[in-house]
Amino acid sequence: MEKLRLGVLASGRGTNLQAIIDAARSGRIRAEVAVVVADRIGARARERARRAGIPEYFVDLAAYPTKEAFEHGIVSILERHGVELVCLAGYMRILTRVMLEHYRNRIINIHPSLLPAFPGLHAQRQALEYGVRFAGCTVHFVEEEVDAGPIILQAVVPVLPDDTVEALSARILEQEHRIYVEAIQLYQAGRLKIEGRRVRIRPE
Ligand code: GRF
Repeated sequence: MEKLRLGVLASGRGTNLQAIIDAARSGRIRAEVAVVVADRIGARARERARRAGIPEYFVDLAAYPTKEAFEHGIVSILERHGVELVCLAGYMRILTRVMLEHYRNRIINIHPSLLPAFPGLHAQRQALEYGVRFAGCTVHFVEEEVDAGPIILQAVVPVLPDDTVEALSARILEQEHRIYVEAIQLYQAGRLKIEGRRVRIRPE
């Protein structure tokens, strides 16, 4: 089987990107990060890509007349690098139809909550303030609505009595790295089948 070519979009520190790079390098997933695209000039994710010898691009929204034009720019980079699956890893923008239609059912995201609870920003803080006993993370396909596409995998962590946002976030992040990689592997193996809102995981 050929290695799945991944395009990772990131805005920030890039620990999920790093987990994917490490899993690809060690052969834990049959995939390779073909290209990294960042929408912030100082994103640490760019440095991680460079260190791993992966082509990386900064695409500046301000340099384009519209968000759609900006995304056409991103799509052309991803296409040039033969990307088959787009992984959003801390990418802080809502996608337009340009990306969504070009990569229909081929974009996945990681969100630090048990969706559909706590979509949007600061999910870990939302969970803590709400007082839930369990929090977690979700890998899902990306659709028009934010943090709402069909769910591939979730992982649960406890919320401890004296948790801070930082402590809870760290506990969740560890699981993010694990399930993001696992979801990519399931996709690569052709084991994910979208049936309406539900994702069936085919047996090996
Ligand atoms: C993660 O918590 C992810 O779930 C959310 O943004 C954060 C990105 O972290 N979408 P990193 O850049 O991968 O370290």
